Amino acid sequence: MAYNLLQGKKGIIFGALDEKSIAWRTALKCYEEGAQLVLTNAPVALRMGEINKLSEATNAPVIGADVTNMDDLKKLFEDATAHFGGKIDFILHSIGMSLNVRKGKSYTELDYGFNQKTLDISAMSLHRVLRTAWDMDALNEWGSVVALTYIAAQRVFPHYSEMADAKALLESVARSFGYHYAIKKKVRINTVSQSPTRTTAGSGVKGFDGFMNYAEKMSPMGNASSDDCANYCVSLFSDLTRMVTMQNLFHDGGFSFMGVTQEVLNEMEK
Ligand SMILES: NC(=O)c1ccc[n+]([C@@H]2O[C@H](COP(=O)([O-])OP(=O)(O)OC[C@H]3O[C@@H](n4cnc5c(N)ncnc54)[C@H](O)[C@@H]3O)[C@@H](O)[C@H]2O)c1
Repeated sequence: MAYNLLQGKKGIIFGALDEKSIAWRTALKCYEEGAQLVLTNAPVALRMGEINKLSEATNAPVIGADVTNMDDLKKLFEDATAHFGGKIDFILHSIGMSLNVRKGKSYTELDYGFNQKTLDISAMSLHRVLRTAWDMDALNEWGSVVALTYIAAQRVFPHYSEMADAKALLESVARSFGYHYAIKKKVRINTVSQSPTRTTAGSGVKGFDGFMNYAEKMSPMGNASSDDCANYCVSLFSDLTRMVTMQNLFHDGGFSFMGVTQEVLNEMEK
């Protein structure tokens, strides 16, 4: 059921790779709620061609941009504001990539060259996106920016490796830029800390199935799905959450505040 929560709003969605992507699910919900969209992803991801299906389903143009390239970001914002005929109301940052995890390097043997790229793509890219919007004055008053994160920023999950550090940095950027953008234009910036979700990025983490099952058993409501996450993002882009900013918001079926559940205790007693 749609509520027209985003009627008249214009947004950029970063990171829809395929149907499983959290960004893909969120784009569909935003469109259902009345938003006009521009979709973007790295040129290499666009070559896979999947995003054209989403583009048709949401009547949105696709504009390629590597988030580590400031020229790409400037062009993206120029093209998006030209397409909308005005400024932007919301942005979803749904981007993550660990080069060390990809190359099979564990946390204790990080390659620092890869590590810098990981931090740039997965965390400082939020700063780059916000800085581009800031310099171009591309966001409307009461705009909303959401970036996706994971609880490994606060708790240790061994195989999440350098992405834990990237998420801690991402959440810090959201808070710090959130202060400045609130003062300048009442723009709110939050991170949503999502349950483990079966996507391309998610499945790249070693032992992902065990990880998902454990979270499922430790969450009184079970793991939150990507469609649930999309709904939550819609609420954060809507006018109903205008005073929420600089927060890390857990969207995880209660996982983050559990010590232990009966289900996990039962497993331990076997
Ligand atoms: N899947 C999970 O379990 C889970 C849990 C919590 C948070 N998250 C976060 O959700 C976000 C989305 O991930 P997902 O799970 O939907 O996976 P996904 O693989 O579908 O999305 C990751 C996206 O990042 C994009 N990307 C990578 N490098 C880029 C670059 N240089 N420029 C532009 N885009 C680039 C990829 O093309 C891809 O579209 C990530 O931040 C991820 O860390 C995922």
